[in-house]
Amino acid sequence: MTSLRAACKQHCHDVLVIGSGAAGLSLALRLAARASVALLSKGPLTEGSTWYAQGGVSAVVDRQDSLASHVADTLNAGAGLCDEHVVRFAVVHAEAAIRWLLEMGVDFTRETFPDGSSGLHLTREGGHSHRRVVHAADTTGQAIHKVLVERVRKQSKIEIFENHIAVDLITTRKLAAGGQFKTNRCLGAYVLDRRSSQVEVFKARFVVLATGGASKVYLYTSNPDSASGDGIAMAWRAGCRVANMEFMQFHPTCLYHPKAKSFLITESVRGEGGKLRLPNGAEFMHRFDARAELAPRDIVARAIDHEMKRLGIDCVYLDISHQSAEFIRSHFPNVYARCLDFGYDLTREPIPVVPAAHYTCGGVMTDLNARTDVGNLYAIGEVAFTGLHGANRMASNSLLECIVFAHAAAHHIGSHLHQPRANIQIPEWDASRVTDSDEEVVISHNWHELRRFMWDYVGIVRTTKRLQRAKHRIDLLLGEIDEYYSNFKITSDLIEMRNLALVANLIIQSAMARKESRGLHYILDFPDKDPRLDGINTILAPASSSYGYAPIPVAVEPNA
Ligand code: FAD
Ligand code: SIN
Repeated sequence: MTSLRAACKQHCHDVLVIGSGAAGLSLALRLAARASVALLSKGPLTEGSTWYAQGGVSAVVDRQDSLASHVADTLNAGAGLCDEHVVRFAVVHAEAAIRWLLEMGVDFTRETFPDGSSGLHLTREGGHSHRRVVHAADTTGQAIHKVLVERVRKQSKIEIFENHIAVDLITTRKLAAGGQFKTNRCLGAYVLDRRSSQVEVFKARFVVLATGGASKVYLYTSNPDSASGDGIAMAWRAGCRVANMEFMQFHPTCLYHPKAKSFLITESVRGEGGKLRLPNGAEFMHRFDARAELAPRDIVARAIDHEMKRLGIDCVYLDISHQSAEFIRSHFPNVYARCLDFGYDLTREPIPVVPAAHYTCGGVMTDLNARTDVGNLYAIGEVAFTGLHGANRMASNSLLECIVFAHAAAHHIGSHLHQPRANIQIPEWDASRVTDSDEEVVISHNWHELRRFMWDYVGIVRTTKRLQRAKHRIDLLLGEIDEYYSNFKITSDLIEMRNLALVANLIIQSAMARKESRGLHYILDFPDKDPRLDGINTILAPASSSYGYAPIPVAVEPNA
């Protein structure tokens, strides 16, 4: 055991922020004037979904639009499961979020209006009944991320730890030090420095999970490799409830090409008039929804999946070639260039597209201040379940949620910085009983198997039988991974594998618990929405006796 002094000498901050996407960076910047902050990223600072965001950030900034309309569209996309109070909170704070991003220096696309004045250009995406998506051409994420990273690097009170992957949270309950506190409280995290392979103690008064989503649990995903659900898994093991994990969002249009790694074709291509077509050129979306290409994502992804299965085809086609080449190149420079790399000219021809896993609507349960069930532990961004997205997130509401809830959490933490530090000795990571692995193949095999069966059995269309198959397999994998984790030294691959398996289990259990079809959860045995489940979330709580995978009481509760 190290002494508290030694541990503190190593890493001791007011606030530990785990994750450097839009959420983590925004929070760190808001707190930097008042607190010492450790900012962790498991790769370089720019690794994460934020960098890849294309469409934009939704906000009511046009006089012809209204907050009521943004709220109504979000509730509608969320299919009866959004928490209206939370939706209002996010929508009302959206304009301030955009203003803050502009102050930070984000260069959003502008336009000149007929009266000669200029303002932000607004694009449109599925589910929105107005143009309300603020964007930087089709690389909005990069524009935001670059600016926030530059700002963070200039802050002396933010200490940056790249290539540091958090392994687990340290809590009073895990240390059996609960006696000092009425409730379970977070004290910091064990973190693997990927370069030295050493696990270090990061002690902090407040810990913030900003680790992004879990779409990597599926074989095909628009997300970068970092999206392995680490934050959800760590929070679960620390004692937090998670909600609505069955609602995994599939983006309808990712480029279909063996080397494209599910490159996303932004929904604003459809917002600007792009049509979906079958191989024979026929349009089909009008057969599924009156809003056709601009229906919410769940409907469009399911329609594509349906047509692909019905016709036995590998992909459908997205066509915006009716717009001028100049319009396409200026609105979608990134998508245009990437498609050209793969031999498709967006200005002249339809491009092949397929759906891929894109966004985790469920996550760690939080309140409006981003507080979780564990004291002094917060969750912001895609890792969190705030109640904003319900059964289906509306396009461009995610970056909005990242900024709004990062600011709310920063405000809450900032007003509690006077709290005394917990005076608890934290033991060093114990690696005395593990050896180097001689069987790395176990991880790579399990990795592939898990992502394959999640895609096949827990994907866009589910059945009870497929879910049971998936459950059977995940139980076997969890046992194997647990044993492996107990015997071998940890590596980042093992950490991610362990987390992915846990999150996959949560997704399967949640999907099995919801006996209806709603939003992103479509199950053939229960094809209709059950009105008795309006406003009812699927909430999973960790068994208090273990931090692992053991019996999970499933509670289905109304949202707060
Ligand atoms: P991320 O940006 O994913 O960042 C997560 C961070 O956590 C990373 O720094 C990662 O390294 C770190 N991390 C993870 N685990 C650990 C660990 N164990 N230890 C240390 N660090 C860790 N949303 C919109 O609103 N509008 C859009 O236009 C849009 N377009 C998108 C396009 C694509 C291709 C994708 C993939 C997503 C898009 N989304 C969009 C969704 C949106 O980008 C994400 O939901 C959002 O960026 C998530 O931000 P975040 O800060 O929560 O997490
Ligand atoms: C896109 O640009 O289509 C992605 C938007 C989002 O995920 O919100």
